[in-house]
Amino acid sequence: MRILVLGSGGREHAIVRALHLDPAVADLHAAPGNPGIRELAEGHAIDPADPAAVTALAARLRPDLVVVGPEAPLVAGVADALRASGVPVFGPDREAARIEGSKAFAKEVMAAAGVPTAKARVCTAPEEVEAALTEFGPPYVVKNDGLAAGKGVVVTEDRGLAVRHARSCGRVVIEEYLDGPEASLFALCDGTTAVPLMPAQDFKRAYDGDEGPNTGGMGAYTPLPWAPEGLVDEVMSTVVRPTVTELRRRGTPYVGVLYAGLALTSAGVRVVEFNARFGDPETQVVLDRLATPLGGLLHACATGGLAPEQRLEWRPGAAVTVVVAAEGYPASPVKGDPVTGLEEAAAVEGAYVLHAGTAVNEDGVLVSGGGRVVNVVGTGPDLAAARRTAYAAVEKIRLRGSHHRGDIARAAVERARG
Ligand code: AMP
Ligand code: GLY
Repeated sequence: MRILVLGSGGREHAIVRALHLDPAVADLHAAPGNPGIRELAEGHAIDPADPAAVTALAARLRPDLVVVGPEAPLVAGVADALRASGVPVFGPDREAARIEGSKAFAKEVMAAAGVPTAKARVCTAPEEVEAALTEFGPPYVVKNDGLAAGKGVVVTEDRGLAVRHARSCGRVVIEEYLDGPEASLFALCDGTTAVPLMPAQDFKRAYDGDEGPNTGGMGAYTPLPWAPEGLVDEVMSTVVRPTVTELRRRGTPYVGVLYAGLALTSAGVRVVEFNARFGDPETQVVLDRLATPLGGLLHACATGGLAPEQRLEWRPGAAVTVVVAAEGYPASPVKGDPVTGLEEAAAVEGAYVLHAGTAVNEDGVLVSGGGRVVNVVGTGPDLAAARRTAYAAVEKIRLRGSHHRGDIARAAVERARG
């Protein structure tokens, strides 16, 4: 198989790495990719969110499959354009991607499908905002209706801050606060059938102890030793399958990965959000554990051939990823600083490094090129070992002013010890 992967982050590096390990994948291309991805795939310097540029590249490469990594190309209609030109694509059409692109649309689909989620009000006028904040009470949850790269949500006890965030967004969704731990579950979908991957946990806040601003995600781990038995089956039957059925009923079948961000509240599982693509950095740990070859699975989704009885195979053990972020991330990441120590990190037994926001400067030096610069992945027979490995490797990475969280998977390891 020849596969073209769109995107350039740590998630895409993890996808390309998994495809590279699939014996059925002979030829890998990436647009645009990053320096790590380009060690495994031929890079093409185009804008992955430009439907005309992507279809032109696909016409030239004639791939068996295009895998769309980030949300921006989906929302821009890149999957629609590829499908219209006859190219199998893993990723939903623009209309189905609104499940991520519009929080209000996601709420509407969930209501129609009977999917459990936080009660919510869509507000535009200041008096609607005030009424919703009063109705739900603190802590206040205010979400920008549109795409905001994981940064459009404010959760606060401070009503003034909640009002100011709402005013800065225009249209917002205000909703009831969900307590309880969060988990992410990804399901592969071919428009009709959905097959779950393994759940993972993400760390969204910038600093240890869940302090600081929301980010795209600072680390992740899988499996979740604390997750209730039957969680995946429950989420598939109460969340994923009803949503896939509802989107199909609307004439916008969902092809790609449906990402369910969940809160495990005392009242049961609730959807916090849907995304129309793999989570970043959860994908880095989930794909590390997946033993079933990825290329065939994604191709089956793109061509409507996912078997309902498809059972995925998983490597035993655990994986932990820690994001090394640039100085100033998430507010204003500093770019252009040399990144070194990647080989030393990869030499730690059980560890490897995925590139996220890296670039090569005019002197041929690897430098930071984004907020989340590299993802260090540690693996091991259990979560404690995977965590030790990840942090031993993180120690080797050198980037001036960088920061990372020191508590990825710590609570889960302590809880498992009892
Ligand atoms: P979202 O972009 O919708 O995933 O929100 C980002 C983060 O804000 C989530 O991962 C949660 O930590 C938090 N959050 C979102 N909605 C709620 C809610 N209803 N109750 C509590 N926390 C929330
Ligand atoms: N890890 C959260 C996200 O991908 O949105």
